[in-house]
Amino acid sequence: MTILTTKTSHHENKAKIAESFGSASKSYDFSARLQRFSGKHLMPWLPDKNDLTVLDLGSGTGFFTDLLATGYDQVIGLDFSKKMLKFAQGCRNKNIFWLEADAHKIPLQDESIDFIYSNLVIQWCEPLDIAIKEMLRVLKPGGLIIFTTLVDGTLHELKSSWKQVDDDQHVIDFKTEEQLGEYFNTDASTVLEHKCQDIILEYENVIHLARELKGLGANHLPKKKNRGLSGKDKWFTMTEHYKDFLEPSGVYPATYRLYSGLVAKLNSQHEN
Ligand SMILES: C[S@@+](CC[C@H](N)C(=O)[O-])C[C@H]1O[C@@H](n2cnc3c(N)ncnc32)[C@H](O)[C@@H]1O
Repeated sequence: MTILTTKTSHHENKAKIAESFGSASKSYDFSARLQRFSGKHLMPWLPDKNDLTVLDLGSGTGFFTDLLATGYDQVIGLDFSKKMLKFAQGCRNKNIFWLEADAHKIPLQDESIDFIYSNLVIQWCEPLDIAIKEMLRVLKPGGLIIFTTLVDGTLHELKSSWKQVDDDQHVIDFKTEEQLGEYFNTDASTVLEHKCQDIILEYENVIHLARELKGLGANHLPKKKNRGLSGKDKWFTMTEHYKDFLEPSGVYPATYRLYSGLVAKLNSQHEN
């Protein structure tokens, strides 16, 4: 019974996340400062061989899928948001193969992919171990996962400002750096390199921050209670608390703790 409930709630959450990203598909590229930075940041880890099959997992508007298509023979963009895929299909390289699918159930053959590129996606993947198992299944032995995600510490200013107002969850739960290491350092895969850094973006006000999160489709919050109660008063009180973080120049900072990882699939993964 509990398992069924958990599965159903994962399913409902995924549908809401996909819908939220979908409704942001047209505005996404204007609010994607962080995504552009983090995605480019992975470039030095890309293999310098062209005859490879690449999967861009959670391809969004296809900005990086398009870049990958300039360097590799076969590129697949996978996303579970129909609208994101439609947008990408309309304006990106015509040779890209687009797939509407969930990262937890990748409709590709075992050992068919040379490397997976995934920029700021896996923080949305719950349960993460199932998504990782799927990535490792479709990767060839020795294949790579080159990814970024956000970890605990992200949006701590917003989190602590809300904490002074109520006990609701206003920011999604991010994994810790250590937990990510545990997820990827197993008998099936190993972390070859990783980096963790704080990226601080500046906003004119908290509404600007909220709009950017919305524009990115990053506004879906699972398990949020008392939705109806968080009215204008609560919002105003939260923004007053956020002023504690104001920089001398008067801008509002928001911290994004960015984890970048280079993971290799180990050759002997067959026991699952
Ligand atoms: C923050 S956007 C990043 C998009 C793109 N990688 C970029 O760098 O611009 C996250 C994307 O992951 C997709 N996504 C999130 N969870 C997913 C899942 N479980 N399966 C497939 N796509 C997912 C969303 O629909 C969204 O397009």
